[in-house]
Amino acid sequence: MSLLRLDIHQLRNLQASSLRPDPHINLIVGPNASGKTSLLEAIYLLGRGRSFRTPRSADLIAHGTDRFSVAGRIFREEREISLGVGFAEGERRLKLDGRIVDARAELLHALPVQFIDPTLHTLLGDAPKARRQFLDWGTFYAETDYLPAWRRYRRALEQRNAVLKSGRREAAILWGRELVKYGKIIEICRRRYVEALQIRFKEVAEQAELGTELELRYLPGWAGGKSLEAALHDDLDRDIRHGCTHSGPHRDDFTLYDAGRPVRRRLSRGQMKLLTCVLALVQTCLPARPVCLLIDDLASELDLENQALLTDLIVHFNIQIFITATHPEALPRLGPRAGRTFRLERGVITPN
Ligand SMILES: Nc1ncnc2c1ncn2[C@@H]1O[C@H](COP(=O)(O)OP(=O)(O)O)[C@@H](O)[C@H]1O
Ligand SMILES: [Mg+2]
Repeated sequence: MSLLRLDIHQLRNLQASSLRPDPHINLIVGPNASGKTSLLEAIYLLGRGRSFRTPRSADLIAHGTDRFSVAGRIFREEREISLGVGFAEGERRLKLDGRIVDARAELLHALPVQFIDPTLHTLLGDAPKARRQFLDWGTFYAETDYLPAWRRYRRALEQRNAVLKSGRREAAILWGRELVKYGKIIEICRRRYVEALQIRFKEVAEQAELGTELELRYLPGWAGGKSLEAALHDDLDRDIRHGCTHSGPHRDDFTLYDAGRPVRRRLSRGQMKLLTCVLALVQTCLPARPVCLLIDDLASELDLENQALLTDLIVHFNIQIFITATHPEALPRLGPRAGRTFRLERGVITPN
């Protein structure tokens, strides 16, 4: 799979842009505020139906206009497919192969996109939300049972939290059974996924000489050793007091260990960024279908040595990649290996 063509209309500072990307490495170079992140945002929108910067589609409309659109053509399973995302008159429209689709999941299947932002080193830090999203995205592609179970779990969680707030103990117990039913499926899927990720990650990390004792571990979102059923039972009084569910896969997490100790807080920002970039690269290669990877400001936090290491890995992964940089010299090793370079200047894109 690769993105063959991209047309952007009135998205942030990109007024009207068209590009024909390279199937492998694309470099996007431009000064600050030229529109580099907006260009990655456009590709992300096509594959996810929403932005990584804002939940409000209206924010994406170029100032002074009243609509935006992004259209793409991808090559997949021996044929070309068109994709489109637009927003006008307060309404978002998703299109796949000329027809309007309701669910974002259809776009997710058509164009798997992963985004690495410049603050990626924080992924392995304190806040688990980003790790859960990372886990979610990967498990969605790896396990077909995952999405339906997750949807039902989310619904049951909302219902349980609502009845907890009104102190309805019996109803909370009933909704708890739903949580257990779907929570078990989610746990199995995520556990299997982290194991698969761990195997590939370990291989790549060892080849790149990043360490021989790196290990990813799935951490279920309830007290160790207990079943989810038992955790919900034991938590019931506390859940009623706080009006929310403390245990369950909505609190899941994973940690990276090195020689049995969590890497968090032990490594420098550069080392963390390198390891998380490798993790994200490995992740994009796990789904059965190829993925488009977006890396914003690759050079930030990475010294030249780590950058060179990552570049060597990137060129060996057979996926389509879009990488941004403020100037070509920021990526001395990658620049010459890019299939295509695009220059951005105040929202105007020109191929090099
Ligand atoms: N809705 C919008 N309409 C017009 N310009 C916008 C909008 N949202 C953001 N911008 C501007 O677009 C420019 C490009 O932003 P960005 O893509 O983040 O640039 P870069 O990543 O190259 O630094 C910035 O000057 C920003 O202020
Ligand atoms: Mg930017």
